[in-house]
Amino acid sequence: MKRHYRRYGIVLATGTAVIFLAAAFRPPHAARRNPTPYTLSYPAYFGNRINTTDDNPLTNEGVSLGRHLFYEKRLSANNSISCGSCHQQAHAFTDGRAFSPGFDGVFTKRSAMSLCNLLWVRHFFWDGRAASPEEQVVTPLTDAHEMGQSLDSSARKLRAIHSYAPLFTAAFGSDSITPDRIVRAIAQFERTLISAQSPYDRYIRGEYQPTVTEQRGLVLFYTNPDRNRGIRGAGCGNCHSGPKVFNETYHNNGLDSIPTDPGRADVTGMDYDRGRFRVVTLRNIALTAPYMHDGRFATLQAVIDHYSDHILPSLTLSPSLKDTANRPVNVQLTPEEKADLLAFLRMLTDSSFITDPRFSDPFADAGHHTKTDHHIISE
Ligand code: HEC
Ligand code: HEC
Repeated sequence: MKRHYRRYGIVLATGTAVIFLAAAFRPPHAARRNPTPYTLSYPAYFGNRINTTDDNPLTNEGVSLGRHLFYEKRLSANNSISCGSCHQQAHAFTDGRAFSPGFDGVFTKRSAMSLCNLLWVRHFFWDGRAASPEEQVVTPLTDAHEMGQSLDSSARKLRAIHSYAPLFTAAFGSDSITPDRIVRAIAQFERTLISAQSPYDRYIRGEYQPTVTEQRGLVLFYTNPDRNRGIRGAGCGNCHSGPKVFNETYHNNGLDSIPTDPGRADVTGMDYDRGRFRVVTLRNIALTAPYMHDGRFATLQAVIDHYSDHILPSLTLSPSLKDTANRPVNVQLTPEEKADLLAFLRMLTDSSFITDPRFSDPFADAGHHTKTDHHIISE
């Protein structure tokens, strides 16, 4: 009996030693199993109401995979476009067009949106129909006229590209390439697109002294006009409010008397929402022409002229843009005031965001889509 115990003891000891040895000589790829949490950094004045979720924690490896997938043309049905085709970094992640051609050349129904500070967005798209980055990502991937490919086909195509297995392993702990992981990785990357280095940010942080015209523009932007008291203002801050320069509400900003695009009503089915659209961010706005959901304005001057002089009456026109008798209020800015407002809007340009290597196309220098680099797979 005693012997028996002793033998058991030895076996146990040996077994433990083996485990220790195994740990000491664990090959490096196994040691890298756990992805590193991604450190989000942003100014306190952006607030902490962010859309991260425990379901999809951000990791360096996940974000890096997401960046590759954002620029991966093989996620489209004929390998011709990626997210980065319609969302180009140099244009603050839009594409300079009113409408954008999908993989099949058919144009989108609305203008591609600029992407920045999505971490604070709750309802994505012009009409707010997607409730999370994960939900949003599925739309362009599978839309019949955008990238036009089922998530299963995307996963199948990526499995055949050998460079992806290690990226998925690093991000998610195993090399299985699934629709869910594709979506999660891209959503992680989206959340890291933070823009907070514009002159306006530096002004908020006390690091930049605005020029006289920028300062006047800033005041106009945030001041409500009041004719009776002789107060000049453009009232933009009623909707594009706060340091993030957007708020999550929907408004009809007087573009059409009879809106052709239902806007928010597409989602809610309410007449009340017809022609109302999400108040989008104005960050990097000087880089994202043309403007509005249908790209109808080619320049910021044209946008300012609209708010100053051409607000149209309609059933759902925002209360901020009409008087008590329901007439549109056209604030009629002077040419000088318009120039001031424009100077302020240009203060919102973050030139480091559009050159930040963390957001750039990882394939750009690698001769991507040449046959030597990866083999192209056609479905
Ligand atoms: C063919 C052009 C095109 C492609 C490709 C495309 N998008 Fe878009 N994107 C758009 C358009 C158009 C909208 C606005 C759609 C709407 O509101 O109905 C949009 C909106 C968005 C938004 C919403 C931003 C906001 O503030 O609500 C995000 C995020 C986005 N796209 C990310 C992506 C990602 C990620 C991919 C790749 C998986 C992608 N897009 C591929 C054209 C495109
Ligand atoms: C009543 C709310 C409201 C007010 C006030 C307002 N906006 Fe807007 N703004 C919106 C909405 C909503 C949109 C999106 C509308 C659309 O695309 O149909 C928008 C869009 C824009 C765009 C285009 C964004 C893009 O990405 O294409 C610019 C630029 C803009 N506004 C500037 C201003 C300026 C400058 C002022 C002040 C003169 C102002 N806005 C006042 C609600 C408002």
